Amino acid sequence: MTKYLVDGTILGQRSLSPDIRVMEIKAPEIAKTAEPGQFVTIKTNHLSVPLLRRPFGVAGVDREKGSFLLIYRVVGETTHLMETLKEGDSISILGPLGHGFDRTHKNALLIGGGVGLAPLHFLAADYPGAQVDVLIGARTAKELFWTELFRDKTRRQIETTDDGTWGIKGMVTTPLPELLKEGQYDCVYVCGPSPMMRAVVDIVRPTGIPCQISLEKYMGCGLGACLSCTCSGIGRRVKVCKDGPVFWAGEVTAW
Ligand code: FES
Repeated sequence: MTKYLVDGTILGQRSLSPDIRVMEIKAPEIAKTAEPGQFVTIKTNHLSVPLLRRPFGVAGVDREKGSFLLIYRVVGETTHLMETLKEGDSISILGPLGHGFDRTHKNALLIGGGVGLAPLHFLAADYPGAQVDVLIGARTAKELFWTELFRDKTRRQIETTDDGTWGIKGMVTTPLPELLKEGQYDCVYVCGPSPMMRAVVDIVRPTGIPCQISLEKYMGCGLGACLSCTCSGIGRRVKVCKDGPVFWAGEVTAW
């Protein structure tokens, strides 16, 4: 698949919570070709930033407008610089990269926590012919801005909070066995912190329902050249940037 190295233009950004931002970037090549589950690497054009590009899952596209969305947590030098960018500023983008989600099912359950919900947001918006439900895990009610983002893209939104301030008290694994017993899902998609994904896979596996996971790893190059993102697959090492970031749950044995 063709990759592009382009300078995108910031169309705007806003806060979703104290530390989460959504940024819209005009980059027609990326917007036209990106598929749910793929990612881009970006670098701000500040002279002071680290040389390495940072990977971000594409959170949505507007193919007519030629723009795409990133949803990111402000945690390090690159993201602190990203949040200072204003409308009209430019940003260097390489992508779209990696393999996206399989979209051949009819009743999908998306499960995510934190900014892991960003690529699932794109999947919910672009899953032709499927009924899509989403199970959103948060620490507390204040992090549940995600529900509004998914509302017009999904049939049903189920929320859990660790502290019980909204939805079901517990983690995404709390309501999951009952949801799967309802028997309507023919594929599960999960993205979020690794312990959460492992716990979800442990519950889904015995049901025989196919499950896709989207892995996040440190990435040096994003292109399959530096080996910084490898993990154990069946009989081989796999590169998250090139062989993934989306895998079937049985394809990788440790991550
Ligand atoms: Fe370099 Fe994956 S990031 S090989």
